[in-house]
Amino acid sequence: MRRAVLAPLAALGLALVLGGCGSGSEAVSVPGAHPDAAPKVMEAFGCGSCHMIPGVDGADGRVGPNLAGIGDRWSIAGRLPNTPANLVRWIMHPQEVDPGTLMPDLGVPTQQARDIAAYLYRH
Ligand code: HEC
Repeated sequence: MRRAVLAPLAALGLALVLGGCGSGSEAVSVPGAHPDAAPKVMEAFGCGSCHMIPGVDGADGRVGPNLAGIGDRWSIAGRLPNTPANLVRWIMHPQEVDPGTLMPDLGVPTQQARDIAAYLYRH
């Protein structure tokens, strides 16, 4: 019974989150994430060796796309619709989404992936 009530609520939450998409003005939020923790996490995982990432020291890589303005994009890596859940999934398991992509699975834990996703939607 509880589940039946919670699932639509979760869907509604996601819809509200995505409602900001397209307008370009409202930052997409990822519930339960701590975006302020993300720059250090991204430094630790070396994301910046392949990506330019605003606000992350030394993140000037050009192997992958610039991660600025992710919130304005329709897709993630041209593979997934740009939703918070898909961004988290990509950060954790790019090889599962797109086998052979140049981005390696780095073993980013769920919470850290959510923190990163929330951060990227703000930058
Ligand atoms: C070895 C290089 C490399 C590393 C390290 C790396 N990436 Fe990537 N990343 C890529 C490449 C290449 C792509 C483009 C993949 C594609 O389009 O198939 C990509 C794509 C992405 C995308 C989608 C961007 C878009 O414009 O759609 C995101 C988000 C992303 N990476 C985040 C991260 C994060 C966060 C980390 C660190 C946890 C990270 N990447 C580490 C190479 C890397």
